[in-house]
Amino acid sequence: MSDTVIRIKGGRVIDPYRGVDSHQEDIWIQDGRFVAGEDARGRETVALDAEGLWVVPRLVDMHVHFREPGQTWKETIRSGSQAAAHGGVAVVAAMPNTTPVIDTPELVEWVRRKGHEARLVRVLPIGAVTLASQGEDLADLYRMQEAGAVGFSDDGRPVTSSRLMRAALSYSTTLNAPIINHAEDRSLADGGAAHEGGPAGRLGIPGIPEAAESAMVWRDVLLAGLTGGRLHVAHVSALESVEAIRYAKQRGYQVTAEATPHHLLLTDEALNAWQYNTVTKVNPPLRPDASRQALLKAVRDGLIDVLASDHAPHHADEKQRPYPDAPFGISGLETIVAGLITALVEPGLLAPLDAFKLMTSGPDRVLGLGYRGMVPGEQADVALIDPQQQWTVEPGKFYSLGKNTPFQGMMMTGKAVATIVDGRVVMQDGEVLHAGLSSLS
Ligand code: DOR
Repeated sequence: MSDTVIRIKGGRVIDPYRGVDSHQEDIWIQDGRFVAGEDARGRETVALDAEGLWVVPRLVDMHVHFREPGQTWKETIRSGSQAAAHGGVAVVAAMPNTTPVIDTPELVEWVRRKGHEARLVRVLPIGAVTLASQGEDLADLYRMQEAGAVGFSDDGRPVTSSRLMRAALSYSTTLNAPIINHAEDRSLADGGAAHEGGPAGRLGIPGIPEAAESAMVWRDVLLAGLTGGRLHVAHVSALESVEAIRYAKQRGYQVTAEATPHHLLLTDEALNAWQYNTVTKVNPPLRPDASRQALLKAVRDGLIDVLASDHAPHHADEKQRPYPDAPFGISGLETIVAGLITALVEPGLLAPLDAFKLMTSGPDRVLGLGYRGMVPGEQADVALIDPQQQWTVEPGKFYSLGKNTPFQGMMMTGKAVATIVDGRVVMQDGEVLHAGLSSLS
């Protein structure tokens, strides 16, 4: 326990958990918790000057790949945690497509423990829906939840069997945790590496049609209606997926959806600029502008609940393979805040309070975390954000081991300048601090 009091001074407090956007409010932290100013009684007060900055509680990125166990040359739980802290993110939900796949309570517990040991951000495990994500037998969702899994997904792969998807969604009603599906009809998508036609067609890169995603999103929506289960649609990229989500929400189904910064900011035209450079290779692929516009409209219409990075780091050697053979994925944790501001706030699509819902109360509700925001007694997780800062993305400066991003060299607006987790400053002015956290609950 520390007597030190942190006072975050003079910032614009944007707290979507409470629906508050107030100009100039001081935030006080003691012993890892928010406290009311008049109750702060520390021996020593550390003041953080937030003049001109946005003060936002607990940013959540609910879709990241940390590659541990098994593929630590791509990322470790520690390096991924550093990337999160660098990006302003206090909570991540880690996908289970590691080696082995996280499909038992013991493995869920192992990821949680590794996250604690990294002592930087809160790492919440997602368990697999099916054993080894093979799509044949359901994993023990109940026991994984008891061990700390906050959701279930075979991400990287779809749950192809409608029978198993129906069963998983049925279980989700009593688990009160979402089934997060990577919607992809493999019989349509396999062998494809980029959006079908257009630039990929001209480059001779095999294609993936939008229907590969949308057909399964429609199936999942119908199964959510049938079961009353909790479906979360990961990384929406296609126009008709948006229509399926609209349909589900209009009928009051328990369906939530997620978009990524790369699908909101980029189109398959990026292949014209990058040619055969695989930084643009991601699954689902970058789509034409009509789909991007539909996605932006879906965000404005409130159909999208979550902005998540789908942080998918890979080693440079792997990404240097020929386009069809390279792995899919973009390293996204260190550009997600800039992505949110550049795609949604700067063009005036959403007010900052609504935009930040997508990384706070939105994912919190999907995962059922129950965080209350910057109120006395709550865990003190904060990001200080400079909304004006324009910066050029240089992957060489990432903490992530994955430097694979099509945002490389792009000018973006908005940057996290400090991250506080559990009342400890874990990143300041772009530097991740190694002081560590005393506890992470
Ligand atoms: O681009 C992707 N990369 N999409 C996924 O769904 C999986 C991810 C990965 O694990 O690399």
